[in-house]
Amino acid sequence: MAAEDKKAFGQRMNALKQSAQAKVDALKEHIGNGGQAEAAPDDPTRPARMAPVGSLHPISIVRQRIVEVFTRIGFTISQGPEVEDDHHNFGALNFAEDHPARDMQDTFFVREGTDGASPAGMALRTHTSSVQVRVMEHSRPPIRTISPGRVYRNEAISARAHCMFHQVEGLYVDRGVSFAELKGTLDHFAKSLFGPEVAIRLRPSYFPFTEPSAEVDMSCTICDGEGCTVCKYSGWVEIMGCGMVDPAVLRNCGIDPEVYSGFAFGMGVERIAQLLYRVPDLRLYWENDVRFLEQFNDGAFRS
Ligand code: DAH
Repeated sequence: MAAEDKKAFGQRMNALKQSAQAKVDALKEHIGNGGQAEAAPDDPTRPARMAPVGSLHPISIVRQRIVEVFTRIGFTISQGPEVEDDHHNFGALNFAEDHPARDMQDTFFVREGTDGASPAGMALRTHTSSVQVRVMEHSRPPIRTISPGRVYRNEAISARAHCMFHQVEGLYVDRGVSFAELKGTLDHFAKSLFGPEVAIRLRPSYFPFTEPSAEVDMSCTICDGEGCTVCKYSGWVEIMGCGMVDPAVLRNCGIDPEVYSGFAFGMGVERIAQLLYRVPDLRLYWENDVRFLEQFNDGAFRS
């Protein structure tokens, strides 16, 4: 502080000190008198202040909304382990031992324990398709189930990719399940979540566990098809993979493909959330910044 300002500042500080002291003295006297009467600082009949309450994480909200769409039309919910064996994550799903498709998914392998606690060949599941296998191994058609859960891939963390994310898998197996039903179900899903005006389209694709396979695009809800950075000016955004369950997969799980057929699909929850909430950077979801998270408190706090 400049020397010439010190005097004036000192005087103001003194005045502040005196007024604070006077207040303290007055309060002490008030308490000494039994603290009664007119000087009560608050109205005790006012409603209590609400304690701050947290909200559901945006990914939980979106997962719940996805799950609701399917449970309403008769799908059950099933879950499986996040540390998975090779058979459920790859083998039974028709990924051959040296199949190049295994490279599609950068797997985190779990090191074999010397104490026998971690058997060989375990990995963090790379997709929730592993749960399909578990369900088909343990139940008979008709099967109508969805499997939400966490999945892991060895990816460099960026705005568009993370080493941990969420998927919802769907599976329907019965006599005479058709591709048309798959398309109708996914169209219903897209319209339920994004509104009746959205459209979907299917592009031929490849997955080892479905035949035929398709990639599902939805008309871009960010720009209504006009073209934007999210849809890369195509008017369409990819939302999931799907297909008819490969007969070999049914057979691997003890279901006769001569009698039954099925469809399956798998989507990323973060992707759907990005389209619903227009969050440009995936990393925001996992930084636990309350200023970000509290913006999703849309009254959706349900157990
Ligand atoms: N498991 C695939 C993935 O993680 C997604 C997927 C594609 C699941 C097609 C399916 C399907 O059930 O039919 O990339």
